[in-house]
Amino acid sequence: MVIRVALSGAAGNIGYALLPLLASGYVFGSNAVELRLLEIPQAVGSLTGTKMELMDCSFPCLTDVIITTDPLVAFNNADVIILVGGMPRRKGMARKDLIQANTKIFSSMGKAIEEVASSNVKVLVVANPANTNCLVALTEASKIPTKNFCALTYLDHQRAKGQIATRLGVSANSIKNVTIWGNHSETQYPDVLSGGYCVVKDGTKVPLSEMLANDIDWATTDFIYDVQNRGKAVIEARGLSSAMSAAQATADCLRKWLVTGTKTGETVSMAVYNDQGYYGVKEGIVFSFPCECRNGEWFVKEGLQLSDFSRNKLNITEAELVEEMAAAHELIGTSPAPVKIRTVSMSTCSSGLSLATTATESDMSVCLTSRM
Ligand code: LMR
Repeated sequence: MVIRVALSGAAGNIGYALLPLLASGYVFGSNAVELRLLEIPQAVGSLTGTKMELMDCSFPCLTDVIITTDPLVAFNNADVIILVGGMPRRKGMARKDLIQANTKIFSSMGKAIEEVASSNVKVLVVANPANTNCLVALTEASKIPTKNFCALTYLDHQRAKGQIATRLGVSANSIKNVTIWGNHSETQYPDVLSGGYCVVKDGTKVPLSEMLANDIDWATTDFIYDVQNRGKAVIEARGLSSAMSAAQATADCLRKWLVTGTKTGETVSMAVYNDQGYYGVKEGIVFSFPCECRNGEWFVKEGLQLSDFSRNKLNITEAELVEEMAAAHELIGTSPAPVKIRTVSMSTCSSGLSLATTATESDMSVCLTSRM
């Protein structure tokens, strides 16, 4: 089986950092990978150089690299589509300032997905405003199940883990089940107190609410602010938006979602189409929740107890997403009514893809297996 992976905005900084992770087996294990690199005509020259470099890496699983300016070529029967291309945020801009420019781009991406992608394709949206771009794409791609889309809040998830680990003087990997709720924006709610825990030396899971009991002020003020504004801080320091960390988070999100799944009891943050009104959040927006992944699918973990403080934070980020949704629907001329839940039966998958059994961290078998 060859996994066909399309990447828009492939010549950008995130693309450059992401491509080796896609081609080396970091994401897809030992499965063969074909890369379709989508770019605007002005960037094709530099992409040609990147293709040379990919060949020069001699990645054993990389079967082909196709450069194209046509989304219909890039997305044709693609198994995985990663949408990084769009106008990037510059100093002084908020992510939602990009709605005008990027909604149009994501409307055309969604239409192209609708036209040529496999109905089993999995789509990860990275470009900002990521949640609303994802909503636009899935609205336009009405034949693809809404469950096949997500937007990247794994970057914020990793940022939250990094901040907590530094504060507690432990390894980032020992911090589990932090949650990013809502929008990948300054209104997101990075929450470590509702379900987060730390795995200490003897393997015991200690709730972060306990470990931070004397530091609650920090966990409910500066910590939240720093994670919410980390993208801006990186832009201010680098003069460019995050690329290495965004690429790593993209790769890790895909790997958990489509390949390894999450370990029992563990959650990651993913912005997904809210068709169920999870946690009382308005239906019809793409909202980041704690998710478990298995068999190549995400499942929102329900049942976390939310304090009044948390509930209030969820309301703030929900209100921003509702506003963004209305703006985007106006731009593309669609109705803000919730997109119907869409599922597809395995027997009707046009691509010949079906889900394999649950993969574990160690076996790295991909949850997309070909019947062809
Ligand atoms: C980030 O969070 O680093 C990216 O979304 C880039 C940005 O504009 O903040």
